Amino acid sequence: MKVHVYMVRVSHDQKPYRKFMMETWGGTVTASPSMLTRCGREILAADPDNPGSLGIAISEAVEEAASNKGVNYSLGSVLNHVCLHQTIIGLEARRQLELAGDYPDVVIGCAGGGSNFAGIAVPFARDKINGSKVRLLAVEPAACPTLTKGRFVYDYGDEAKMAPIMEMYTLGHTFIPPTIHAGGLRYHGMSPLVSLMHHEGIVDAVAVPQKGCFEAAIMFARTEGIIPAPESSHAIRAAIDEALKAKDEGRETTILFNLSGHGHFDMTSYDMYLSGKLDDYEYPRELIDTALHDLPNVGLPV
Ligand SMILES: Cc1ncc(COP(=O)(O)O)c(C=O)c1O
Repeated sequence: MKVHVYMVRVSHDQKPYRKFMMETWGGTVTASPSMLTRCGREILAADPDNPGSLGIAISEAVEEAASNKGVNYSLGSVLNHVCLHQTIIGLEARRQLELAGDYPDVVIGCAGGGSNFAGIAVPFARDKINGSKVRLLAVEPAACPTLTKGRFVYDYGDEAKMAPIMEMYTLGHTFIPPTIHAGGLRYHGMSPLVSLMHHEGIVDAVAVPQKGCFEAAIMFARTEGIIPAPESSHAIRAAIDEALKAKDEGRETTILFNLSGHGHFDMTSYDMYLSGKLDDYEYPRELIDTALHDLPNVGLPV
């Protein structure tokens, strides 16, 4: 099968080795926004330095699929079937904890589009609904605070409004997140499944700044030997914070978190952090409100 990947330009530039891997396996990779699609050309005409977003990459891929017979589009997160596919993570973790005679007090995952978080958390959601005290905690970057500062409304999954609208937490489909190093967490929306669970109070969410995440990632690397992806470092930050809180309060706690990926291709980000060149950034409420002006009109109050 031939694969053409639209890769968000800032990730394409920050993480060239991911591109080389995809090419090694036979894929073709294009930095998005690109000149290959109408929506990419329009975006570049208005802003030649546009860093791209997952919403724009989706628009380009959908446009290519919609205008070429025999081309199909696939998304690797957000959609419920992707999230459910990932639940093998939580199902396995649950069995392993059973073998150890344990059960989590808190289940943590970072959340970009929601798939790895849903993967680890959904197998515990039924317990939560049935009264278990287990806490399901989604961790997002302060620079792209979809669950913590977004609105639960219908919105487009992509910039050019080509994908179907979904009811979800969103920062607005025109939202261009700052170029933080956890590129996989820069999505304006959130899985409808995770969004609904958050809306219903089944899932909690917290937003954390990137420097604290790198600090946690480095502590993890030096104790566990594994260098985590910047995305995963958000879950590690929250896991460490939960552990420190329990320690302060003098109670035992069982924390389950998902290490969603390694950071072997993200060493430039580690270098920037270690040499003091990384900044924290909290997305301002006014800019979120601006991006939320262009929601689809579905006749429901927003
Ligand atoms: C290592 C890693 N973790 C997490 C994510 C976030 O995606 P999701 O929220 O779908 O799990 C990404 C996205 O690219 C990623 O690369």
